[in-house]
Amino acid sequence: MSDPVIFLNEHAGGRAIHMAPAPAEPYEFHRRFREYRPSPLVEAPGLAAGLGIGRLLVKDESSRLGLPSFKMLGASWASYRALADQVGGSLALGAWREIDELARLLEPYRPLTLVAATDGNHGRAVARFAALVGLEAAIYVPVGTAPARIEAIESEGASCSVVEGSYDDAVARSAKDASRRHLVVSDTSWPGYTTIPGYVIEGYSTIFREVEDQLGGERLDSVVVPIGVGALAASVVRAYRSDPRRWPAIIGVEPKSAACVLESVRAGAPVLVPGPHRSIMAGLNCGRPSEIAFPQLVAGIDAFVAIDDEPVRDAMRLLATAGVVSGETGAAALAGARELCASGIGEDERGRLGLGPASTVLVISSEGATDPAAYRAIVGQDPPDPEADR
Ligand SMILES: Cc1ncc(COP(=O)(O)O)c(C=O)c1O
Repeated sequence: MSDPVIFLNEHAGGRAIHMAPAPAEPYEFHRRFREYRPSPLVEAPGLAAGLGIGRLLVKDESSRLGLPSFKMLGASWASYRALADQVGGSLALGAWREIDELARLLEPYRPLTLVAATDGNHGRAVARFAALVGLEAAIYVPVGTAPARIEAIESEGASCSVVEGSYDDAVARSAKDASRRHLVVSDTSWPGYTTIPGYVIEGYSTIFREVEDQLGGERLDSVVVPIGVGALAASVVRAYRSDPRRWPAIIGVEPKSAACVLESVRAGAPVLVPGPHRSIMAGLNCGRPSEIAFPQLVAGIDAFVAIDDEPVRDAMRLLATAGVVSGETGAAALAGARELCASGIGEDERGRLGLGPASTVLVISSEGATDPAAYRAIVGQDPPDPEADR
């Protein structure tokens, strides 16, 4: 194992950047799901002491709208918005109350297939939403995707095709399916395909609305977020660069072997980090940043940390001691925060990044045990049965 790569982003705009807040509609939409409840914000005093900070709060996304990662927030809102754009006003939020009603409104438009590329979680979420509203789903995964992740996608009733190549190759393959009866719902964007990935970013805003309620007015000094293509991180930037009263530092964490946003910010433009990407942080094995997320990440993320797999295994075990079930991708943010704090950066820098002795830090644990066998092998205990939560 080697030291983390730390990149302090001098392009970050500080208070000069100011973004429009996310719309309220995604939050209203998500609360219409039968499974909706706010994800827990867990206080972890033992982990805070280990980091040398005041408070550590973990946003635990291990159970979200019936699935074990935050991804359903973006997949469901983006699918719904894309369908509404295609079908017109009959799907407006004012026209229905429950997801079953939405499914009935969609009946005349069948057959219709939602298409997505994924390294696991986004595709499963698109497949779940398609099933809930009576549509088909076709999901593409890169070769090497864990069998448990493929089975999970198929268990939603979707077809799952393995693409010989990386996640980025799977994205390119999925884009070829686009037609009037095949709606591509991608969480990443490319030239000419930006609207739906923009909805994905909006969909994640529900996380930060909940955090505000849960904090009851307390201020955050730092937010630590895992980065794949950067859609979740773009949602963090939008949430915390739209209100001068809430202006924490923002820290992004990537695997060293797929640090595409760090490398792109360093280069000043999106670059491809070629595969194979073999980190155990499967959701972060992305070679190219999302086109629309990138400018927001350049302007809004104060520091990037690129890490090896071993610190993630440690972070999974630590989160388990704090009562949070966190998978390999889910634990990346805590692992990155620990690596940053242990790296010997100066006290001034720590203070600037909101990691001082009195700081309150939010880490996003973005998934639960999405690969139960791997979780068992790393943490040494069985993850809870996800069906028990349904
Ligand atoms: C669990 C989990 N966390 C974080 C991410 C990263 O999100 P993004 O690709 O929007 O940066 C992913 C992406 O698949 C994921 O599955």
